[in-house]
Parts: sequence; structure tokens; C-alpha cells
Amino acid sequence: MTQDFYTQPSVSADDGAPLGCPVSALGAAFNPFTDPYLSDPYAFLAEARRDEPVFFSPEINHFVVTRYEHVRDMLVNTEDYSSRMAQSPIQPWPKEAVDLFAAENFSLVPTLSNNDPPNHQHVREFLKDAFTRKRVKWIEPHVRRLVNESIDKFIDKGKVDLTKELLYETPARVLFTFLGIPDDSIDKVKVWSQGRALLTWGKLPDEEIIASIPTFIEYLRFCHDLVDELEQNPGEDYTSEMLIKLRDEKPEGFDKTRLIITVFGLLMAGHETTTNQSGNGIRTLLEQRENWEAICEDPKLIPGASEEIIRYDSSVISWRRVAKRDITIEGVTIPKDAQILVSLAGANRDERKFKDADKFDIRRKNAIQNLSFGMGNHYCLGAPLARLELVIFLEELTRRIPSMRLVEDQTFEYSPNTSHRGPQSLWVEWDVD
Ligand code: HEM
Repeated sequence: MTQDFYTQPSVSADDGAPLGCPVSALGAAFNPFTDPYLSDPYAFLAEARRDEPVFFSPEINHFVVTRYEHVRDMLVNTEDYSSRMAQSPIQPWPKEAVDLFAAENFSLVPTLSNNDPPNHQHVREFLKDAFTRKRVKWIEPHVRRLVNESIDKFIDKGKVDLTKELLYETPARVLFTFLGIPDDSIDKVKVWSQGRALLTWGKLPDEEIIASIPTFIEYLRFCHDLVDELEQNPGEDYTSEMLIKLRDEKPEGFDKTRLIITVFGLLMAGHETTTNQSGNGIRTLLEQRENWEAICEDPKLIPGASEEIIRYDSSVISWRRVAKRDITIEGVTIPKDAQILVSLAGANRDERKFKDADKFDIRRKNAIQNLSFGMGNHYCLGAPLARLELVIFLEELTRRIPSMRLVEDQTFEYSPNTSHRGPQSLWVEWDVD
């Protein structure tokens, strides 16, 4: 296991402020785990972009960066910024949790999103065929069938929580087919993933962190066992294909342990994100209903609308980097080894890049320049699959339930998490003949 996983780099004075840098009022007010930020991060981010585009947050011991040009540079510039902490707990674990985890001796070697060059390139090169155009085409009918099977089950009800009945399970089932995981593991993997998201990007009391460690370990063990099983009995899935490629090619910088951790990573990255993205998108389309009606009337607008959804209300609102040297931006010096919360949501609403950035415009020409999937070497490996799933959800829902609308007076809840964002439930209703 790498020490970095749970050891926070220390650049702070005793009061939590980085050495020599006073905490501003805006920095002190930033709390990504509570309202109003949780239910609407955009108002705060607009203020930060305007007044203090780089500020220090004592709440999370990170610098926060919100303008497009700075965020983009941090994503692509691997000389000055490291990804090594991207999967580490944002809130340090208490010693008891660290000891419990360390006792299991799991190797959490960096693979993709928390890896740096040169090893990141080796791993990425080995895994690069994951979502080729061919494979995405292969999986498309499967996604469409699963979506329609779920719609068949609830279409006569006239009112459902769409998250629960459709958006929660479908991306997981798609990913399971892809990775070679039996469908009957969905419930436990979903629960594990949500727990893991909170352990990594959330804020929990120490007792809850400690209590979550056995589940975290169970999740890792599940991935080990899966890879062992597929090594013995390969299927037609991606994991089996990678195991065979591994045996035949013996690549530099990649081995079975890294494959296990990759599966562990994909199991989180590959469905929570899409569940949340679809929830955000459908909520926005129905709240600004003329857009829903436009795509019902003209489905050719759906791919463009999906891209605007991904820009306007991403399911991954921030990511992380570590400064490799002292770097001064907009008069603020980020010291070497300081952690940075890179606000993708802040960048996506930056007026300097997107005209009328707070307007949801499904015909926006440059929506695709959003940073929701990152940019550069770490650009999201699953972006083609995520886009496909969102488009298919919208195509099938508008085709089959055009009268769908939001149930009035519902409140949308978001889990206290710096990075992953989507409504926990989404109640919709429609006319039933
Ligand atoms: C709307 C849905 C999704 C969003 C918004 C999203 C967003 C992101 C972001 C922001 C990154 C980090 C980029 C960086 O560090 O610069 C990332 C990386 C990654 N994502 Fe996604 N993602 C989504 C769906 C998926 C899916 C469906 C999969 C897999 C099936 C996936 C797999 C990955 C992987 C493996 C990486 C690491 C790539 C690397 O570091 O080389 N993601 N994603």
C-alpha cells in the first residue's frame, strides 16, 4: 500500500492555514459538505471566480481553484501538478481506521486517476482499448435493452422515483457486463460504492470512518476474488481480455495487482458518475421544460443537449491535484505539496469561456469544451460510455414518456461529498392512458 493513500501532505500551520497565507472570509465560509453549497454550489462558485479565484479552505485543507483557464492548466500540466492524492481520503482517517486497514495488507498501488507519469502512461497504454468506438457500439444494444426493460416495469405506474427505478441500477448492470461481474452483486456493490465515495470525498465522524473500514476491505476483497475467478475461468468481458493480454504481453509497469485496483477503480468511476449525471440532467430538462419538449419533438437535439447537461450540471464537480513546486496564481502562492481542489463546476460556468454560462442552452456550440471529464493525460477513460448512457436514457424516456414532469414540491438531497454530485431521488409523474 502506498503511504500517500492516507497520509495528507502537511503544509499547514497549527491553525490550519497554509504557512504565510491568511484565510480569507470567502475561504472561511467555504463548506462543501453543507447547504447552501450542497444544494447549489454555483452561487458560491460565481462569487469565488469573481472575487478570489484561488483561495485556501481550512475546512478541507485544500486550495480551491475556480476559473476555467487555471483549472484547465492544472488538469493538463503534469510537470507542475501531481494526481497522487486524487483517490485519498479528503478528510484524514483516524489512526484506528488506518491501522485496521493497514493490517489487511492490501496493496493500493496507483493505477489511473491517482497516478503520475511515467507509470500512468504505461497503465493507460495497457488499458486504452477499454471504450473504443467498436466496444461502445457493441454495448449500445445492451444498454438500450436494459433501459427499456426497466421502463416496461414502471410505465403503468404514472409516478416513480426515477433514480431508484432506472438511473441507479442500469449503469451498474452495463458496467457489470463489461467487467464480468454477476448481476446478483449489484446491490452490495452499489452500497459499497456509495460508502467508499463518502470515505474518500465526504466528511464523516471518526466512529463512522472506523465502522466503514470492514466494508471497504470487503469491497477490495471482492475485486481480488473476481480477478482470480476470471483468471481461472475467463469470459468474454474486458477483465478477462486484460488478464489474457497481461499473460501474453507481460507489459512494463502493469501487473495483476494493478488490474485488481483498476477493477476496484472502475467499479466506482463507472456507475455512480452516470447515475448522478442522468439525475442532474433529467432534473434540469424538466425544470426548464421547454428543453424537454424540444428534445421530445426533435431527438436529433439529444447529443448536443447531453453535452450541455454535462457542462451545466456535472456529476463530478471537482477533482484534485497536488502542487509539485511553489506556484503563484492571481497573487496567491500555492506552496509545494499543498493539495488543490480543482473546481470543474466552477470552470464550466466561467463567463470567460462560456457566454451566458449560467444559462442552460441545449444548442450551445462550445458545450463540448466543458471540463467535466477532465482534460489531457487523465481525460476520463469512460467518457464514451457515460455519453452513450446519457443519450440512451434521454432517447428512450422522451420517446416513451414525453408527458413526464417533476413531482411538485419535492426537495432534492445531495450527499455531503466534495466531488460526486447527483440527486438522491428524483420523483417524476406522467399521464397514463
Ligand atoms: C458523467 C460521467 C462521468 C464523469 C463526469 C467523469 C469524470 C471524470 C473525471 C473528472 C476524471 C478525472 C480526470 C483527471 O484527473 O484529470 C475521470 C477519470 C476517469 N474516469 Fe470518469 N467520469 C464519468 C464516467 C466514467 C465512466 C462511466 C467510467 C468507466 C466505465 C469512468 C472511468 C474513469 C477512469 C478509469 C478515469 C481515470 C483516467 C486516468 O486517470 O487516466 N468514468 N472521470
